[in-house]
Amino acid sequence: MKNVLITGGAGFIGSNFIHYLLKAEPHISIVNLDALTYAASVDNLKNLPDLSRYIFVEGDIRDRTLIEDLLRKYTIDTIVHFAAESHVDRSILGPELFLQTNIMGTFTLLDAAKRFWLEEQSVPKAEIRFHHISTDEVFGSLSSTDPAFSETTPYAPNSPYAASKASSDHLVRAYAHTYNLPVTITNCSNNYGPRQFPEKLIPLIILNAFSGKDLPVYGDGQQIRDWLFVDDHCAAIHVVLKHGVIGETYNIGGNNQPTNLSIVETICDLLDELVPDQHVPRRKLIKFVKDRPGHDRRYAINIGKVNADLGWAPKYSLNEGLRETIQWYLDHLEWARSVHEKRDYQKWISQNYTERDGKQ
Ligand code: NAD
Ligand code: TYD
Repeated sequence: MKNVLITGGAGFIGSNFIHYLLKAEPHISIVNLDALTYAASVDNLKNLPDLSRYIFVEGDIRDRTLIEDLLRKYTIDTIVHFAAESHVDRSILGPELFLQTNIMGTFTLLDAAKRFWLEEQSVPKAEIRFHHISTDEVFGSLSSTDPAFSETTPYAPNSPYAASKASSDHLVRAYAHTYNLPVTITNCSNNYGPRQFPEKLIPLIILNAFSGKDLPVYGDGQQIRDWLFVDDHCAAIHVVLKHGVIGETYNIGGNNQPTNLSIVETICDLLDELVPDQHVPRRKLIKFVKDRPGHDRRYAINIGKVNADLGWAPKYSLNEGLRETIQWYLDHLEWARSVHEKRDYQKWISQNYTERDGKQ
């Protein structure tokens, strides 16, 4: 791993990964390709550990000419593919962009990599890798007694987002099987941590609770997710890049299964402790709102394979991760304010919440 192309590196996980990798690998160079959609922030890339090994390119993963130019110009040997439309609620209101970005974008990257690496043989084959970042949502929903998702759980995506990610996973698999493209895939659970766009549950609740606004909980709040602190996710991707077996997929998770309601309550309690102002007790701000259509009830992820084969396990407990995340948002209120002021953000909040407000 010398010259790494990271797609979607101005978003939440990608930007955390760039900070992580520049620190962990003192000899690699990174090209970050990002289209700067609503979810991106160039501020996420402030204070990088070493700017001399980092280049930002604004562009779209569906732009075949641009991708090929970048692969050639920087002699890319490793692609770590994060770029995606990533919010389930947005995929319900507007699925088409998810299909274009997540499916056609992944296809474009795979096909350009195949040409550059396998047809032009521009980099020694032993050095190349396409790593695809995917989600546990491709496995669908579990009942309360089902075993956790393993790497062999059949795909059963339920939302347009999950279906588009499942499609992209299948394309990655097909390029490995048909053309011998050296790939690895990680399917991870819900991430949280610094720099997450505040329309996802945890940052939305932190910022609303901080300023005394309603805390919207969909349906009965008894849905269950596995929550992975983003630094733990970065460490998992790093270990898979270094030691993962070509062609394998690895499930990555945080080893916890709280209900959404208990996550919201924990955030309220932590904030009450850290900011004991007029909004205490913040639990009174919780508001049950109309449920998400087709809302998956439970996700749980079995990390036995990555643990046994590569020695990875999450380091952060949910409580430690939440505390660190809350502190980051409290220390970066200016970052949050700049997102809140964006027109697109205001439009989204009114689209997603105003209509469902108060309805069960
Ligand atoms: P994000 O929405 O915060 O960031 C996505 C980034 O991709 C943004 O910077 C955006 O500008 C960029 N992007 C979107 N379309 C693009 C295009 N056509 N060309 C170039 N760049 C484009 O997402 P995230 O939460 O950081 O997720 C990153 C990846 O991890 C995604 O593939 C997502 O499916 C996967 N994932 C996320 C989670 C999670 O909890 N956030 C969990 C599992 C898997
Ligand atoms: P989200 O952060 O959107 O991630 P995902 O849908 O990919 O799991 O949502 C996490 C959970 O929180 C999910 O069950 C939906 C729920 N949720 C709420 O209850 N209220 C909200 O305002 C949001 C955004 C999500």
